[in-house]
Amino acid sequence: MEQRKLSDILQIKYPIILGGMALVGTAELAAAVSEAGAFGQIGAGGLEIPEIKEEIARIRSLTSKPFGVNIPIGRRTDMESFIKLMKAEKVKAVSLGGGNPLPYIAPLKESGITVMAVVASSYHAVKVAEAGADIIIAEGFEAGGHNSPLELTTLTLLSSIVPRLSQPVVAAGGIVDGKGLAAALCLGAAGVQVGTRFMATKECCAHPRFKEALVKAKETDTVVFGRGLGHLLRVLNSGFVKKYLGAGEKELSQEQIIALRSGNRNKIAVFDGDLQEGFAYAGQNLAPIDRIITAAEVVESFMQEAKEAIKQAAGVVKE
Ligand SMILES: Cc1cc2nc3c(=O)[nH]c(=O)nc-3n(C[C@H](O)[C@H](O)[C@H](O)COP(=O)(O)O)c2cc1C
Repeated sequence: MEQRKLSDILQIKYPIILGGMALVGTAELAAAVSEAGAFGQIGAGGLEIPEIKEEIARIRSLTSKPFGVNIPIGRRTDMESFIKLMKAEKVKAVSLGGGNPLPYIAPLKESGITVMAVVASSYHAVKVAEAGADIIIAEGFEAGGHNSPLELTTLTLLSSIVPRLSQPVVAAGGIVDGKGLAAALCLGAAGVQVGTRFMATKECCAHPRFKEALVKAKETDTVVFGRGLGHLLRVLNSGFVKKYLGAGEKELSQEQIIALRSGNRNKIAVFDGDLQEGFAYAGQNLAPIDRIITAAEVVESFMQEAKEAIKQAAGVVKE
């Protein structure tokens, strides 16, 4: 089935979306991504409604390009106020992650907002598509942050979701360069959503020590914890994780694990750069992240590398 182009729907030049990221998805980072011709998103996770309003005002002072707002639904009880705000602010697009998006798709669409829904199986992809989501984000198990207990990879998701939908499918999880973009496009994706690669940028507010840790890390340096709780988190395998959560997770009570994976412990690593006392989300595909550059350089290198990768691949399969 032919998909509508991401660039037409989101009014962007390049098919790259900044994944919603709680704590680090600030107006500055989102504006830098939008300014570069991709689609920036404010990460509204953990923010109260007035704070989200402030972030929207801040991004509007930094760019006139389109941007979106990501909300991890989780146990939020203020979704009605959130939708009201999105409508009042005439936000271009909202992405719904971390929970059941079905009740919120129609109200957002009725307000003229493009709806992007994050899914981790073809079953849920079809459900959100039927409910009217405009863009389906297929997020694989490689992704940083919350993972689905289904543990399906990005490659598997694209292969199973793309043929079943007429809506554009965006690949998320493990895409950190133009080769990944090219691979996703070859698998039928309309574009990519990128989180981790945009954390190792100059505009990201994370502590330099955490950004350096991302640059130094390789593909074996993330772990998933929380399987016992059914709430999986992919994080950098820091001193804190090794000490409390890695191999020792089985010996801890559920209450202890919940306390250890609190937002505060996350902030200690992300903002103070203390990886001995806090944890930080990161995607699995860390090996190619080799330097801290600007968000615009990330976007440019994605496009350049994707062109080269597609040319090279075409050379391999030519008659
Ligand atoms: C630090 C961090 C925070 C994240 N927070 C959220 C969030 O609040 N809401 C959400 O829907 N996804 C969240 N994600 C997932 C991203 O939006 C994106 O889908 C993911 O990072 C893509 O995989 P990658 O990390 O391999 O690029 C987060 C990811 C990271 C790395």
